[in-house]
Amino acid sequence: MCGIVAYTGSRPALPVLLSGLKRLEYRGYDSSGIAVETPDKIAVRKAKGKVSELVNLLDSDEGALDQSTCGIAHTRWATHGPPTTENAHPHAGGKNGIALVHNGIIENHRALRQKLEGEGYIFLSETDTEVLAHLVDSKYEGSLVDAITSALGEVEGTYGLAAVAHAEPGKLVVARRGSPIVIGLGENETIVASDASAIIKYTRQAIYLDDNDIACICGSDLDIRSLGSGAVSRATSEIDWSADAAEKGGYEHYMLKEIFEQPESIRNTLRGRMDADRGNAILSGLNLSPRELADLYRVLIVGCGTSMNAGLVGEYAIEDFAGVLAEVEQAAEFRYRNPIIKSSDLVVAISQSGETADTLAAVREAIDKGALVSGLVNTVGSTIARETGRGIYLHAGPEISVASTKAFTSQVSVLLMMALKFARSRRMSREEGRQMVREIKAIPELVERTLAQNDHIAKVAERYLDCTSAFFIGRGYLYPVALEGALKLKEISYIHAEGYHAAELKHGPIALLEASVPVIALCNKGPGQDKTLGNVAECQARDSRVLGIVTEGDTEAMAAVDDYIEVPDCPLHTAVVPSTVALQLLSYHIARLRGCAIDQPRNLAKSVTVE
Ligand code: F6R
Repeated sequence: MCGIVAYTGSRPALPVLLSGLKRLEYRGYDSSGIAVETPDKIAVRKAKGKVSELVNLLDSDEGALDQSTCGIAHTRWATHGPPTTENAHPHAGGKNGIALVHNGIIENHRALRQKLEGEGYIFLSETDTEVLAHLVDSKYEGSLVDAITSALGEVEGTYGLAAVAHAEPGKLVVARRGSPIVIGLGENETIVASDASAIIKYTRQAIYLDDNDIACICGSDLDIRSLGSGAVSRATSEIDWSADAAEKGGYEHYMLKEIFEQPESIRNTLRGRMDADRGNAILSGLNLSPRELADLYRVLIVGCGTSMNAGLVGEYAIEDFAGVLAEVEQAAEFRYRNPIIKSSDLVVAISQSGETADTLAAVREAIDKGALVSGLVNTVGSTIARETGRGIYLHAGPEISVASTKAFTSQVSVLLMMALKFARSRRMSREEGRQMVREIKAIPELVERTLAQNDHIAKVAERYLDCTSAFFIGRGYLYPVALEGALKLKEISYIHAEGYHAAELKHGPIALLEASVPVIALCNKGPGQDKTLGNVAECQARDSRVLGIVTEGDTEAMAAVDDYIEVPDCPLHTAVVPSTVALQLLSYHIARLRGCAIDQPRNLAKSVTVE
């Protein structure tokens, strides 16, 4: 969603701010802006659209802002008020020369706005952020950090913010509640952002603020307080990926790069976690005592979107192998329907970003209700990772494309390891465990062999790019793959697509089938394949073209469908991964051929930090 960058130090701020904004564009945006200190005022520039529009606007300044060494910047994803230049951040506060950028939502903005209008403040935008800027201004008596501290005392809602005041040159104040802020520590300089990808070019030393922290920064001097409890010290951590990881590396799109990274990202997920000899998985982050493992009554998996689809694979595998009750639930639903949770339940929250508002709220609900809570998260230092305490990191590296790809396959890999671990503590023999270790360890190679089909998949895509609507069907482990395949296609190609259990098609959706509505059927060898092939025939009888994902060399399945993509022969619980990769490539090529903005699909944001 929205992104923040801020800089104070000895070099010109503008290039750092703009390069940070470009890095953050992937999170979803509709406008952007900067505010930098100049000798006579804080100069604000804002533009609707891409960061390149802002760059064009700054070019017309002919270098007037180039000497500034302190400033703040923002990419906005509209919530309060449409994406216009007026609504873009930074927002200036009153007469004191304050400028502020903000992620999150000020829930009591209407009441505050009314009060401030009563005091004579004039609003230029419809945003909740301008309310915050004026509120800070109304408290300002020479100290920005004190004014913000006082203003935040009146604010209900969430924020990650950065602000500057003309009267305090070189000083940044940043604060967080519910929206991430990472402080990058450089030599004689500090770069702040809402996402580590904006600071990695300059430093790997980072401090992640906790909720209710407020930091005052000047050059490399840093003073962190916790609202209400004075000075605090926060640990410095090292960002464990390089700036290259956040580059396209020669690929046309981040999505394609990330699809092709999967053999490596899955290897990184598995590294050090497979005990081939004992036939078990080592998931030390899970931190369950033998007693807790033995008493485990149920695993509740929560997440949204792609992460929820991965959770469904986990549900099947945990019940299948370990015989432990498992359920997956959309995180917002889990949070609001007052679920029954026991202390012997393990709640597993799955999130690539570790910041998804509904998943985070579900985590807090589960903690409040006394469950064991584990986070399966990709982004190191993210809120869900920190709040769950029993975190298992994916180690998939930064995922920049809005459409999630490598996070899904790493999530599935961890969930299979979890299933193995629970199974070994209950009913699975060492020998069976060794077999499952071999199957999981083979996943990266299964993906490599699927990626080798890329050219073929690009050709197949040509036959499907004009459809108006598409159905994805699968059974058992392949049902979540159908859901994920449909999600990928709709979000990046804007073709209406639905994932269904193959058996469910007859219960309504079949009414929509016709020649312009193809069906993508997961027909891999294994239990249920005969039934799915029966469903394929039903679709063809309604004039739908059927594209089958089939097992290598399975001539019977190949003959049953109109087009096919082969994936390696493997058990269905691991076939989930190469089959999903095949569908990722299919969606990618369809979207590419349709000329879509693949890495930044319309209306979408990478990290959904609002409910
Ligand atoms: C789809 C996609 C979204 C996310 C969802 C959850 O490609 O990216 O559906 O999976 O917003 O995000 P995380 O995993 O960050 O909690």
